[in-house]
Amino acid sequence: MTEIPQTDDAPSPFPFPDGPMSSPPPEFERRRAVCPLSEVTLPTGDRAMLALKHADIQQIMSDDRRFTRDFSDPEAPRLFHNLLMLEDPTIMLNMHGEDHLRLRRILASAFTPRRAAAWRPQVQESIDLLLDEMEKAGRPANLMSFAYKLPTKLTCKMLAIPEEDGEQLLKWVSAWLSFAMPREELDKAAADFNDYVVALARRRRDEPGDALIDHLISARDRDDRLSEDELVSTIRTLIIGGNETIANSISRMTFTLLRQRNLWETLQADRSLIPTAIEELLRHNPPGGGATGLMRLATEDVELVSGAGTVKAGQAVFTPLVAAAYDPEAFPDPETVRFDRPRQPSTMQFGAGRHYCVGVHLARTELELMLTALLDRFPNLRLAEAPEDLPWSEGGYGVTMSELPVTW
Ligand code: HEM
Repeated sequence: MTEIPQTDDAPSPFPFPDGPMSSPPPEFERRRAVCPLSEVTLPTGDRAMLALKHADIQQIMSDDRRFTRDFSDPEAPRLFHNLLMLEDPTIMLNMHGEDHLRLRRILASAFTPRRAAAWRPQVQESIDLLLDEMEKAGRPANLMSFAYKLPTKLTCKMLAIPEEDGEQLLKWVSAWLSFAMPREELDKAAADFNDYVVALARRRRDEPGDALIDHLISARDRDDRLSEDELVSTIRTLIIGGNETIANSISRMTFTLLRQRNLWETLQADRSLIPTAIEELLRHNPPGGGATGLMRLATEDVELVSGAGTVKAGQAVFTPLVAAAYDPEAFPDPETVRFDRPRQPSTMQFGAGRHYCVGVHLARTELELMLTALLDRFPNLRLAEAPEDLPWSEGGYGVTMSELPVTW
């Protein structure tokens, strides 16, 4: 077994501070060079291993047998106290084994590339309406607020939710991702959100239509694959999974393109680069920042492929996606945005293994159409404030831009 050099006697507190403008924590680079697998102290005081090499992160996320998402043991390490997203054992990200696979199969059948392609006209229509609204409201505009409105509109369409409830959905999602909200508020948000989704599912069952929610309901009713609780948790998973991720990807991608104008001009000149540009922009500036990723628990001792060391049975290991994305062995000169990077290795921005993002095809469609529309309609789009003056959020799982003022 490889000896793990430790930088400190006591494990350092994690998460580490991000770099400027929510760039990856400089500590990742330092540690990757000297101790790519090390122990850290989580905000709860529990300990976990931290893996920082792309190859190791890919191995851990892909090995669903020896690394599980089953944190149901009360003694298992916790990343944060009071973070609903990690507490709720019924949302798909926190499930494992057969239950997870059954739910995934049902959901995956609703999220195929063909279905994502069928949504294109609806996605385009929503984008056109939002950008009309942005243009009409005049300059400068806060692009962040439009970035949130797109996935919310689509979530409402998919789940047959009245659009006027979209704002409330976003409040629940933000409670779900907050670790700074008082416990009573979190509990109330969780209960209200659940009640809302239960009523939605009931209403829709009485008056079915042709939306994604109806597909989920009929999958349950036909051969009893989804229990009532599973249906409700699947709907909640989709609301949580599909909003912040898209809003933050749109804002961070646009931020990068406007800061490095040559990239914006390159895409203006050659739209065929957009699909590869999206993958590279997500790698370079992924939604969420330095602490985004989920912990896994080792079910047996596992030696990591890079030779960084061994994760012992019972240990939790954290795999920050941005650490994988900035590993120079996988992506030489990782700070540079290059639209011609080879497609392998995977950037893993949509995960790996059994929990690989179910919404990936829809996500790519949303990002591609949004970016194309911004380039078409606002060729002179630029930041309305100095990039270093823009505010970033605190207190939530994942760092987001609070505002993205743009003009044209
Ligand atoms: C750019 C946008 C998105 C990014 C970067 C993203 C990223 C991810 C990642 C990294 C995971 C796996 C986490 C892990 O295993 O550690 C994941 C899972 C998931 N995502 Fe996405 N996602 C995006 C958009 C969406 C959308 C639009 C939806 C649905 C409408 C969605 C639904 C889900 C669901 C349901 C899971 C859980 C899958 C499972 O546990 O089996 N995501 N996503």
